[in-house]
Amino acid sequence: MGKVYVFDHPLIQHKLTYIRNKNTGTKEFRELTNEIAGLMAFEITRHLPLREVEVETPVATAKCQTISGKKLGIIPILRAGLGMVDGIMGLIPAAKVGHVGLYRDPETLMPVEYYVKLPKDIEERELIVVDPMLATGGSANEAIRVVKKRGAKNIKLMCLVAAPEGVEAVKEAHPDVDIYLAALDEKLNDKGYIVPGLGDAGDRLFGTK
Ligand code: PRP
Ligand code: URA
Repeated sequence: MGKVYVFDHPLIQHKLTYIRNKNTGTKEFRELTNEIAGLMAFEITRHLPLREVEVETPVATAKCQTISGKKLGIIPILRAGLGMVDGIMGLIPAAKVGHVGLYRDPETLMPVEYYVKLPKDIEERELIVVDPMLATGGSANEAIRVVKKRGAKNIKLMCLVAAPEGVEAVKEAHPDVDIYLAALDEKLNDKGYIVPGLGDAGDRLFGTK
């Protein structure tokens, strides 16, 4: 069964408080979402293997560490997942980015696929599927299914805010996928929104309504 990690780092929790606030405007919401995504990526990549290299400093030869060729892929679920990409890529510029376009039908809450473009060597990469919101889990489950169908074997899911319903749905559908969160909230409301959540992440990121 996949594990669930909630990052309690004070910087993550502090920034999350601001994006939950309904009075936080689009510019600040976008900046903070990227900052939180970067901080979460910092934690998620702790396990990356290192190898020793020698570099010439201005003074002497130093034995140093470098990340040893691990190939990463970041898979934002469009649209709102895009709001996390810059923050992650600022730390991991060599990662490749694949896109999975899904929107949630407002009536059925089922994900509808409209775009998929993934790195060619997806089966060799460690993938992080990113989306600010994990509500019913329908979108995350579908995105993970899409990347698995194209050969992905090593997948993590990273979301800012989740409902218990979404976490359970992903654990059941994809027991091989660990889930990384900034917050695990109370529940879903009858419209499928996370409570207390932060509202519609895509609309808040892109100023739409
Ligand atoms: C939101 C969010 C997730 C999805 C979560 O996207 O960004 O992708 O809903 O809900 P679920 O867990 O019940 O599937 P939305 O469908 O609003 O599309 P958008 O990103 O284009 O705004
Ligand atoms: N999608 C969002 O953007 N917010 C929610 O609370 C649920 C789904």
